[in-house]
Amino acid sequence: MRVLGIETSCDETGVAVYDGGRGMLAHAVYSQIEIHACYGGVVPELASRDHVRKTLPMIRQVMAEAGLSARDLEGVAYTAGPGLVGALLVGAALGRSLAWAWGVPAIGVHHMEGHLLAPLLEEPVPDFPFVALLVSGGHTQLVAVAGIGRYQLLGESLDDAAGEAFDKTAKLLGLPYPGGPALAALAERGEPGRYRFPRPMTDRPGLDFSFSGLKTFALNTLHEEVAVRTDPDQARADIARAFEEAVVETLIVKCRRAVRQVGYPRLVLAGGVSANRRLRAGMDEALAKEGARVFYPRPAFCTDNGAMIAFAGWHRLRAGQRDSLSFAPRARWDLASLPAV
Ligand code: KG4
Ligand code: ZN
Repeated sequence: MRVLGIETSCDETGVAVYDGGRGMLAHAVYSQIEIHACYGGVVPELASRDHVRKTLPMIRQVMAEAGLSARDLEGVAYTAGPGLVGALLVGAALGRSLAWAWGVPAIGVHHMEGHLLAPLLEEPVPDFPFVALLVSGGHTQLVAVAGIGRYQLLGESLDDAAGEAFDKTAKLLGLPYPGGPALAALAERGEPGRYRFPRPMTDRPGLDFSFSGLKTFALNTLHEEVAVRTDPDQARADIARAFEEAVVETLIVKCRRAVRQVGYPRLVLAGGVSANRRLRAGMDEALAKEGARVFYPRPAFCTDNGAMIAFAGWHRLRAGQRDSLSFAPRARWDLASLPAV
């Protein structure tokens, strides 16, 4: 089965075609960073309008790259939530209309299920069951995954998501949007151990997270230190390093705890923050000591993309699941409410 995937939940337009026999035939991502950068964050209305401009030309481009015409497609998958409703509406309306015009089934995909399954596009493919750490701009969740659509939430952030904490801390350090990659780059120049940030909620049992205090800690450290340090730029790099170390170590502590609790020897890392090099390296090392193996997508499939939507949609369409002609994008959507495959 060959499925077109469309992702428009936030500030990236992603399009891909996945073939059950031959794998990912073509994929493309267009990032709206330049449009939103001067505002320091995503402006929803501008995001929607740009998806309107980009999605159809990108579908043509990806189909041409894959050497396919509309006749060759057997299904369409679009992100139906969670995300910005206006942005979701663009991809959903377009995907649903194309499927209707082409006479093929369509399915609305849960964006976080897309992220969660993206590591299955890599070799070696992790077997079920596994624990998944989903770390994106909007979500930080630990999920026990028994199979596709068989998700049990183990813990989540009570306030800011990990990516959001990266973005907000980057902003107060004077870094451009999106802050995560910029902060990680600055942290490379930082002196390890110069500052010690808290590891929130690691000293009590449970698998929930809280990251909003780290941003405040960073702000206070910045105010105190930039005034007294002879090299304020080095102070910023040291703060970036301390912040990154705190987030990474906190995520590692909770993942280790989750793996012990459910007894699965596999952890899947997914979502934009899983592109972070220090997180990957630290997680590999810490979980190896637990006898668990860590799986993650290639960097291009960590952040938002159409490939993960085509892939997740393919699994559900292949199992006979499809959406009716009516569709309703959802800003919020509980991952555990999805049907099993
Ligand atoms: O999954 P994603 O592309 O979009 C959402 O679904 O939210 O995640 C984007 C988030 C942003 O907060 C971005 O700053 C963060 O992932 N991010 C990173 C890195 N690359 C992206 N955070 C830390 N280190 C990175 N290398
Ligand atoms: Zn995402």
